[in-house]
Amino acid sequence: MLKNIDLAEMVPALLAWFDANARILPWRENSDPYRVWVSEIMLQQTRVETVKPYFDRFMRALPEVQSLAAAPLDQVLKLWEGLGYYSRARNLHRAAQVIVEQHGGVFPQTPEEIQALPGVGDYTAGAIGSICFGLKTPAVDGNVLRVMARLTGFTEPVQTQAAKKHFTCLLAEIYPENRADAVTQSLMELGAMVCVPNGAPRCGECPVRHLCEAYHIEKTTEIPVKLPKKPRRKEQKTVFLLYCRGKLALCRRAESGLLGGLWELPNTAEFLSPAQARDWLIVQGLRCISIKAGRTGKHIFTHIEWEMQSFVCECAEESSAFFWADEQDLQQNLTLPTAFQILLQ
Ligand code: ADE
Repeated sequence: MLKNIDLAEMVPALLAWFDANARILPWRENSDPYRVWVSEIMLQQTRVETVKPYFDRFMRALPEVQSLAAAPLDQVLKLWEGLGYYSRARNLHRAAQVIVEQHGGVFPQTPEEIQALPGVGDYTAGAIGSICFGLKTPAVDGNVLRVMARLTGFTEPVQTQAAKKHFTCLLAEIYPENRADAVTQSLMELGAMVCVPNGAPRCGECPVRHLCEAYHIEKTTEIPVKLPKKPRRKEQKTVFLLYCRGKLALCRRAESGLLGGLWELPNTAEFLSPAQARDWLIVQGLRCISIKAGRTGKHIFTHIEWEMQSFVCECAEESSAFFWADEQDLQQNLTLPTAFQILLQ
């Protein structure tokens, strides 16, 4: 039982397992901090399989921190289109400029300097510090919390700062002098491939099950303990696909808040009847040749859920109240969040 043994015992077993079983992933090709940093930011809230093509495309377009720092923000957001949580992309861009301006383009190597970069919290700083610079800085995300909670039989909720701090301290003590990179990644890998969430983990494949308290007391499905989830707020929207000679009307969202500063399709904060939709068009100063019901859709954000209906309208002329995007703008230049993309025909 892990509670009564030295936690450090798990390190050799974990490393041997990782050496034999680590997935080949694009960001593991080398320990270039730029690549590791970008991948860790992308992997927050996004699955590995989704991230892979985005990561490859990002690295081809902006292969080093200097190119990211010099890129227009719109290009960075376009490379992020579909990944969601766009403040990650904005912070990445700002942090690249900090690295170029304040660190001479060389990635900072101390935990304090790494953590001072925009968008870099405890987790990301821990990951970069250990994977790239061999620092004994654990990276405790949801996966690692789950692994550690099961190993130690932790029966309190894991999503608290206190739990995170507790496991960070425990792990920091058992990081070996070398191979900090592999310890960090083996914990992530175990969480992703073996000690999985949502139901029973694959304990038969686990290299440290002999040390695992949850396995021993048969509580692997009860641990980790989670705080109850707040229900998402539901919002209803009517979205307008306003076309004029092949161009599509877009507007900018407010700088702050959900999808801040990104492009959107014109929309209202409630469901409109066809008659109300016609009135809305008049108020916008738009003359429409045709209007018909378009797609419906649902988009789930962390705390909000949008239920959307849409109208497709052909307009007689462009109104200056909107930006009229052509095909090339939509394909190459502007970032339209997935919530709206799903309504396009
Ligand atoms: N999840 C978060 N970071 C990861 C990494 N470096 N490799 C695989 N999955 C991850």
